[in-house]
Amino acid sequence: MQVTKTVAETRALVKSWRKEGKTVGLVPTMGYLHEGHASLIRKCREENDIVVVSVFVNPTQFGPNEDLEAYPRDFERDNALCKSLGADLIFHPEPEEMYQDPCAFVSIETLSENLCGKTRPIHFRGVCTVVSKLFHIVAPDKAYFGQKDAQQLAIIRKMVRDLNFDIEIVGCPIIREEDGLAKSSRNTYLNPQERQAALCLSRAVKRGQELIAPGMDSEAVLKEMRAVIEAEPLARIDYVSMVDALTMRDVEKVDRDVLVAMAVYIGKTRLIDNFSYEV
Ligand code: PAF
Repeated sequence: MQVTKTVAETRALVKSWRKEGKTVGLVPTMGYLHEGHASLIRKCREENDIVVVSVFVNPTQFGPNEDLEAYPRDFERDNALCKSLGADLIFHPEPEEMYQDPCAFVSIETLSENLCGKTRPIHFRGVCTVVSKLFHIVAPDKAYFGQKDAQQLAIIRKMVRDLNFDIEIVGCPIIREEDGLAKSSRNTYLNPQERQAALCLSRAVKRGQELIAPGMDSEAVLKEMRAVIEAEPLARIDYVSMVDALTMRDVEKVDRDVLVAMAVYIGKTRLIDNFSYEV
């Protein structure tokens, strides 16, 4: 497995693989890899000749008061995990390699305005910008993203369609801890008491899955889910919403494929979870 730090050496390597007729898969990450990322890398390994993992904590997707500095990093561990999973290359650039006083950004309208976009107004512009850059640098055949970041996945699919990237986007299921908590690098912020409290998210997901049925009022489901979270003293709801699975707009009834998504603060840590429902 190789590690590159620059755009030029990454492009040269990918070009050489392409010359040999090899297919290339990309797993974009911000590092501090966990079992969720491992599932993406495994899927990418199954479906491509070459597996590229990018490890880059992308500054443009963090707001001014967010956790860019605190975001957990452990490249040694990431390196070992990627190696053990059979990755061929880690692209691990410094911020200065990716951004030199940037003026060009990629943003996507409407889909990024609801849910996480409400409290994180520049987040998806940063995500779309860095993912576009990675797509240009690595030029993969396929790229792998987790369903845990469901709004991100919907936005990237739409960006790829709207901007004609010749890349297949593969969405992969949420990976959970044994007790139900969705795997996330941010789970490391939780103290033991908060870790226990964080289970209210997966409990709310379960409650929503039990209740939801075609034709129901969305509020009938969401009210019950909110009640599960509100019963947990350490939890504070950012949102619990039901949206159209493609447009990310709120729906009043379960009359189409929907995403039921939530963001909840446990202490200072903001966690997300969701489930999809097809009518
Ligand atoms: O999901 C993530 O870890 C990030 O948003 C991504 C897609 C790697 C872009 O920085």
